[in-house]
Amino acid sequence: MKSLPTAKQGLNGSLIVPGDKSISHRALMFGAMANGTTTILNRLDSADVTSTMNVLRSLGADIDIKSDTVTEVVGHGIRGLKKPNIPLDMGNSGTSTRLLTGLMAGADIEAEVHGDNSLSKRPMDRIIDPLTEIGANIDSQNGHLPLQIHQSKIASKFAQTLKVGSAQVKSSILLAGLAAGSDVSLTDSFHTRNHTEAMLPKFGVKVDIEGDTIHIPADQTLQPTEIEVPGDISSAAFWIVAGLITPNSKLKIKNVGVNETRTGIITVLKEMGANISIDMKDDFGEPIADITVTTSQLHGIEVGGSIIPSLIDELPIIVLAATQATGTTVIKDAAELHVKETDRIETVQEELTKLGADVTPTSDGFIINGGTPLQSDNIHVFGHGDHRIAMMLSIAALITDGSVILDDDDSVKISYPTFFENLEGLV
Ligand code: S3P
Repeated sequence: MKSLPTAKQGLNGSLIVPGDKSISHRALMFGAMANGTTTILNRLDSADVTSTMNVLRSLGADIDIKSDTVTEVVGHGIRGLKKPNIPLDMGNSGTSTRLLTGLMAGADIEAEVHGDNSLSKRPMDRIIDPLTEIGANIDSQNGHLPLQIHQSKIASKFAQTLKVGSAQVKSSILLAGLAAGSDVSLTDSFHTRNHTEAMLPKFGVKVDIEGDTIHIPADQTLQPTEIEVPGDISSAAFWIVAGLITPNSKLKIKNVGVNETRTGIITVLKEMGANISIDMKDDFGEPIADITVTTSQLHGIEVGGSIIPSLIDELPIIVLAATQATGTTVIKDAAELHVKETDRIETVQEELTKLGADVTPTSDGFIINGGTPLQSDNIHVFGHGDHRIAMMLSIAALITDGSVILDDDDSVKISYPTFFENLEGLV
């Protein structure tokens, strides 16, 4: 339980958010598949990433946390990965589960895969079906965890088209093919986040991209390398919106990853009238920028279509921004929100309504009538165990004028363990 602060004086200053979660997972996994020592700088230290590290250790990789900013992964090549002698616990992490299941099926590693209550409700048939099509042998509980990965023989050459707009599914299939030494063609017309195909060449893997199709030729090996992880734009998103909706604010968020498959939130907020400036920095593999925001009067817009995958994790905080915009914002084509850590259409609507916002859920998004001041007066809000809901509600509390109590604050450990420290530092 946490009494949330308000920001009566505005938010001013600068901050650095922790490393990107998607990139941290992938750097660890590819390091474990390589032969030799990979150095990861600025890895996110969070519960989800720890789930990936623990599983990779069970598969035989050595991972040494040298300091707060330096992690070394000693891999023994794809063939050096071994069958774990314990069931694998993926905690709350969909990315760990889906990517590592593909990797293990491809490497022909038998394993049992578990997760927490939230993860056990999330759909796994979206990876089981395409992996089974290429030769994996996986049992599930009606498309849910726990999974049993049995001996699998992945086709030596395959071509697939992504059926769900999910980078986790895309990466699961790519890793299955890569680990099996197959010739892989995968078409992603959704343009989901591209960190897998962007990072593999740094490990010496040949990846050809032609239009929407990713091609990885057969029999690739991974060479160890050094990966520097930029700040997570999904974590920066909370401060970006906080700075825009809190009166008298100017905030700079430094060293944020601005890969174009992740920056939908910037596009949408600018279209809503946000004053955001992007100062590009030297690039070390993924593009990086300092992002400066100043308080802005936003206006409602329609958000939907092909931009959705590039802002899927930011929709809860975008809804909060829309509650403070003039006019109506309509968010559609976002049915994927139903299958995140919680049903985020339900949880966002339920919690923001407690604060007086006018948010109507639809089957694939929201209708938000903006311009409603958020009220407080000893209101208890609940994050439903979902990190992004807890952080969104904490930003909402900044613009109330009294006491909002967050009943569960522990979930921030999933992606942003220092969130409340950063918040206290700004108010
Ligand atoms: C992620 C992809 C997204 C995102 C998740 C991380 C990844 O999920 O919501 O937080 O690292 O690939 P989907 O691919 O299922 O949309």
